Amino acid sequence: MMLKGKIAIVTGASSGMGNEIAFKYAMEGAKVIAVARRLEKLEHLAEKAKKHGGEITPLVADISKQKEAESLVIEAIKRFDKLDILVNNAGIMDDFSPVGDVSDEMWTKVMNVNINGPFYTTRSAVKYFLTREEGGIIINVASIGGLFGARAGAAYTASKHALVGLTKNTGFMYSKHNIRCNAICPGGIVTDIGSGEFMKSVNQQGLAMASAGIGANPRMGLGSEIASVAVMLATEASSYINGQCIAVDGGFTAY
Ligand SMILES: NC(=O)c1ccc[n+]([C@@H]2O[C@H](COP(=O)([O-])OP(=O)(O)OC[C@H]3O[C@@H](n4cnc5c(N)ncnc54)[C@H](O)[C@@H]3O)[C@@H](O)[C@H]2O)c1
Repeated sequence: MMLKGKIAIVTGASSGMGNEIAFKYAMEGAKVIAVARRLEKLEHLAEKAKKHGGEITPLVADISKQKEAESLVIEAIKRFDKLDILVNNAGIMDDFSPVGDVSDEMWTKVMNVNINGPFYTTRSAVKYFLTREEGGIIINVASIGGLFGARAGAAYTASKHALVGLTKNTGFMYSKHNIRCNAICPGGIVTDIGSGEFMKSVNQQGLAMASAGIGANPRMGLGSEIASVAVMLATEASSYINGQCIAVDGGFTAY
């Protein structure tokens, strides 16, 4: 029970890594507010947690919408009187387009979900964390695409590099206020991300270029292997880790 008594928000909890993180947090004793747009999926997750003795509260919100993203911290405090952990996990892929082929629509959507959403939630959380001695924990799910130039298209790569920058800046700026902000940068993880809107018709040239190093990936990872790192980053086990963006990729980027 490493997170007993903690209140956590996990965005993008209806599938993939967010689902695993929310469940693992609940199994470690946290009360989790699971955020996504699909209520049924969140309710299913809450049921599963309940069966195993955990507590998950579904909350429908679109984090790309400023008001909805900013309401999350307010909701947590309204329902549980506090917030300890914010996990910015929700994210979407682009279609592997290099910049010359990126549409305005895709650029805006990817940026709204992958960086503007985490900016809105992080700003709200930091303002709250500054009001209390205990501070708080922020964990961003970025990507190895936020560390290297061509693991996806231009929009996704730019959005995840921005999230890495936000992580480092936030971690350092509030380092004297008991607020820690770190990012997990997953490699290839088995989730639903490939069924996203822009992955239905991918840019073949961009995909071919982005796939150049794929043979170096030792294997695909599991959401549970990301969730265990998210637990570690939310506990005192990581008390001296701050402003870091940690690749969790089975060794892919060590190549
Ligand atoms: N799967 C991978 O290989 C991989 C690798 C590196 C990074 N990532 C990142 O991991 C994170 C989780 O992705 P995943 O692979 O689990 O994918 P996924 O598609 O299974 O899950 C993404 C979740 O985010 C939610 N979401 C999307 N847009 C949203 C919005 N506007 N508001 C609220 N929720 C929204 C989805 O509904 C879903 O619950 C993302 O940030 C993604 O970029 C994934």
